[in-house]
Amino acid sequence: MNPPSSSFLVLLYLSLLFPPNTITGTSHATGEVGVLSSSSRWIVDQNGRRVKLACANWAAHLEPVMAEGLDKHPLDDIAGAVRSMGFNCVRLTWPDYLATKASIASLTVNESLRRLGLVDSADAVAVNNPQILNRTLMEAFKDVVSTLEIHNIMVILDNQISIPGWCCSKFDGNGFFGDEYFDTDEWIESLKIMAATFNSSSNVIGMSLRNELRGPRQNVADWYRYMQMGAEAVHSMNPTALVILSGLDFDKTLTFLYDKQVELTFKGKLVFELHWYGFSDGGDWENGNINVVCGNVSKNMLARGGFLLEQGWPLFLSEFGVDIRGNNPGDNHFLSCFLSVAAELDLDWAIWALQGSYYIREGQPNLDETYGVLSWDWSKPRNTNFLQRISAIQSPFQGPGLSNRSLYNVIFHPLTGLCVLQNKMNRKPVLGSCAEYEAWNYTSGHNLVLKDSGLCLIAEAEDNEVKFGTNCESLSSKWELITDSQMLLSTKINSNGSIVCLDINPDNNLITSSCKCLVEEGSCSGESQWFKIVYSNREESSSFSKLLSV
Ligand SMILES: *[C@@H]1O[C@H](CO)[C@@H](O)[C@H](O)[C@H]1NC(C)=O
Ligand SMILES: *[C@@H]1O[C@H](CO)[C@@H](O)[C@H](O)[C@H]1NC(C)=O
Ligand SMILES: *[C@@H]1O[C@H](CO)[C@@H](O)[C@H](O)[C@H]1NC(C)=O
Ligand SMILES: *[C@@H]1O[C@H](CO)[C@@H](O)[C@H](O)[C@H]1NC(C)=O
Ligand SMILES: *[C@@H]1O[C@H](CO)[C@@H](O)[C@H](O)[C@H]1NC(C)=O
Ligand SMILES: *[C@@H]1O[C@H](CO)[C@@H](O)[C@H](O)[C@H]1NC(C)=O
Ligand SMILES: *[C@@H]1O[C@H](CO)[C@@H](O)[C@H](O)[C@H]1NC(C)=O
Repeated sequence: MNPPSSSFLVLLYLSLLFPPNTITGTSHATGEVGVLSSSSRWIVDQNGRRVKLACANWAAHLEPVMAEGLDKHPLDDIAGAVRSMGFNCVRLTWPDYLATKASIASLTVNESLRRLGLVDSADAVAVNNPQILNRTLMEAFKDVVSTLEIHNIMVILDNQISIPGWCCSKFDGNGFFGDEYFDTDEWIESLKIMAATFNSSSNVIGMSLRNELRGPRQNVADWYRYMQMGAEAVHSMNPTALVILSGLDFDKTLTFLYDKQVELTFKGKLVFELHWYGFSDGGDWENGNINVVCGNVSKNMLARGGFLLEQGWPLFLSEFGVDIRGNNPGDNHFLSCFLSVAAELDLDWAIWALQGSYYIREGQPNLDETYGVLSWDWSKPRNTNFLQRISAIQSPFQGPGLSNRSLYNVIFHPLTGLCVLQNKMNRKPVLGSCAEYEAWNYTSGHNLVLKDSGLCLIAEAEDNEVKFGTNCESLSSKWELITDSQMLLSTKINSNGSIVCLDINPDNNLITSSCKCLVEEGSCSGESQWFKIVYSNREESSSFSKLLSV
C-alpha cells in the first residue's frame, strides 16, 4: 500500500521533486519574504504573493526552557532536517518566564538541565552542541531562531504557557487570563519583551499570543479584552509581525468571531489559529463509520473556525497531529480526513510536532514523542511514508500571485498523499506526485475530464484498472461523489449497471472496486477509496518535475 517502499527512495523522491526553495510557497528564501501581511484569507509577502505556512511545532516551553533535542543532534542539522522534510516554518513555543524571570532566562543551558537532574542530557548537549552548553537560556533560544534563519525557515513565536512545563490541562493554572499562574500584566510584559527581542529577526514573521485558552474561567468578554491588549502590545514593539489569536476551549473554537470581530488599531496583520486532533472528535474515529465521521467533523471544523476563511481572515491550523508510527487506527482515519480538508481549504498549518523526544516531559526523562516527525534520537524521519503524505499540502494549491492560470481541479488521494495524473509514457491514469500539476475538470455532468484533451476517466469491470476514453456520455464515465464524506467517487459498470468506486490496488494502480464503508456498514477502513477534488491554479514551477514523470 505504501508507495515507494524503501525510505531511501522516498527521500530521493522528495528531495528531487522539491528542490530547496521551490517547496512551500516560498520560491524565494524566507530572508527575502520579508514582511508578511494578510490579504483577505491569504498570508502574502510584500509583492502580494501568497506565502503558505507549512510549519512544524518545536517545543521550547517545558521545564528546561530550551528547544528540545539539542542533546540529541546538532542544532544546524536539525534546522537542515526541518527544511529537507519540506517545512518552511517553525512554530517555536516559549513560556512567559523565559521573558519575565531573569532567574530563568539567565540560567545557562548546563545549569538548567542539571538543576532538573538531567545530567545525561547536559553531557549530551556538550557532545552535540558544545557551543550552546554555556549559553543562557535566552541566548540559546536566539541561537535556535538565528540557525533557522540561516536555513530560510520562518519562525512563529508561540506563547504556550506561563510556568515552564508540559501544556495543557484545564486545571493547570495557566489556562485563562487571571488563573493562578496567568497574570495578565506579566503576560503582556512577556509579549512585549519577546516582540522587541525579535523585532530585528527577519525570519520571525509572527507571534501567537497564547496557546489553547481553556478552563473554568474562560469567557468571551475577557477573550476580546485581553487578546486585543496582547495584539496591541506585540504591535507596539514589532509592527511587522503577524499577530495570531487562539480560540477558546483548547483552541477548538472561534465561533464567537462569527458575529463580532476584534477591534485593533492596525490592519493587515491579524491571523486566527485553530487546533484539530483526532482525539478531540470524541472517540468517533475509533467507533464510527469513517465516511459519516469525516463528513461530520469536516462540517464541525468549518463551524468551529473554518468560516473565517469565507469571511476573509487567514486561519492557521496551528496544531494537528497523529501517532506518526501509524499505530493508532483512530489517528489513521483522522489523518486521511484531515489531509483532505487541509487540501480543499488550502490551509496554512503547523504539525504537532517536530520533536522526536523531550529532555523531560511530565516527569519522564527522554520521553518518546510518537507524534514527532523526527525519530526519538532526532537522526531521521520517524516515518518517511508519512512525510510523503503531508508533502502534498506543503505547497500552495492556489492563492494570489502564484499563477496566471485559471482554476482547475486536482484529484487528491489522502491515503498516499498522491494525485491522479496521466502517465506521460503510456497515457494511462496513474497516481503520482501532486507537484505534477495535472489539470482536471470535474464537470457539472459528472465527468472527470483531463482539461483540454477531451479525455475522460472511464471504469471497466469491477476490480479492473480504469482508463481514459472519449465516450464521456457512457454510464461508466459519470462519477458521483457519495456518502457524507463526499470522497467516494462512484460510477456504474456499463455492462450491468452495478455500482463501483474508484480505488487503488496494492500496486497503487487505479481500479474500481465495490464501494466500502457505506453508511450501513458501520466501522471499517475504506480510505483507499477516498479522493478529494480540490481547486488549484498551480503552475509548473520547473521543468524538473516533468523529468520524473511516473
Ligand atoms: C556544566 O556544569 C558542570 C557541573 O556544574 C561543570 O562541571 C561544567 O564545567 C559545566 N560546563 C560548562 C561548559 O559550563
Ligand atoms: C561559561 O561562561 C562564563 C561566563 O561567560 C565563563 O566565565 C566560564 O568560563 C564559561 N565556562 C566554560 C566551561 O566555558
Ligand atoms: C522594530 O522595528 C521597526 C522596523 O521594522 C522599527 O521601526 C521599530 O522602532 C522597532 N521597534 C523596537 C521596539 O525596536
Ligand atoms: C457529529 O459531531 C458532533 C460533535 O462532535 C457529535 O456530537 C455528533 O454526535 C456527531 N454526529 C455523528 C452523526 O457522528
Ligand atoms: C502573470 O502575468 C503577468 C503579466 O504577463 C506577469 O508579469 C507575471 O509574472 C505572471 N505571474 C506569474 C506568477 O507567472
Ligand atoms: C469545466 O468545464 C466547464 C465547461 O465544460 C467550464 O465551464 C468550467 O469552468 C470548467 N471548470 C474547471 C474547474 O475547469
Ligand atoms: C455485474 O458484473 C460483475 C462482474 O463484472 C459482477 O461481479 C456483479 O455481481 C454484476 N452485478 C449485477 C447487478 O449483475
